[in-house]
Amino acid sequence: MDQRTKWNSKYKERLIQLEEPLPNVRLANLSPYLNGGSALDLACGLGGNSLFLARLNFQVQAIDLSDVAVSYLQEIAAKQNLAINPRLCDLTKLTNLNLNKSSISLIVITYYLDRTLFPFVKSILKENGYFFMETFYTSPISENQGVSNHYKLQPGELLAEFGDWKVLFYEENEQEGRQTIFCQNQRKSAPIESEK
Ligand SMILES: C[S@@+](CC[C@H](N)C(=O)[O-])C[C@H]1O[C@@H](n2cnc3c(N)ncnc32)[C@H](O)[C@@H]1O
Repeated sequence: MDQRTKWNSKYKERLIQLEEPLPNVRLANLSPYLNGGSALDLACGLGGNSLFLARLNFQVQAIDLSDVAVSYLQEIAAKQNLAINPRLCDLTKLTNLNLNKSSISLIVITYYLDRTLFPFVKSILKENGYFFMETFYTSPISENQGVSNHYKLQPGELLAEFGDWKVLFYEENEQEGRQTIFCQNQRKSAPIESEK
């Protein structure tokens, strides 16, 4: 079964009982940093994070492969008059996205892992812009039953990948087997050489 069919059928089932999707808890806790601008929610699913960000005055582009998820989010954003532009797009074909370099204030990725997105994130995030990512990792305790290792980060991986930015929050929760980073595109200043 391809990814689109798999996620469409999950979302059709979930929408029968769903009230409104909630944002990621760690992202919600970081709201003091989230003061509006342009946001990109990659692999947004039903859009819990996008809805949350739009209410914090972000103009959100929400991208997903599932037309069921994208249609749902389009409908709810229109009904509530929220600045969300849900777009159907396969993130493995990045050329379709057509985004300018250094144009986005905040990028969010939750529970979607494609490492080829990392250079893309680094190129389109504005200087001083924020990046939030959370997904499973190969925790020594949790086995994250049902999640293939293919979709898991290595321990410390996000810190190694984005550690040259200003890291404002980092957590590995062994029990839940999740890794979370929130960082700002602000290079650490080089150590000042002492005068000889
Ligand atoms: C586990 S869900 C996460 C959804 C949301 N970010 C969240 O945390 O609730 C993974 C999402 O990735 C999307 N997805 C899978 N492959 C994709 C691809 N190649 N391009 C864009 N989205 C994709 C699926 O449709 C699904 O909505």
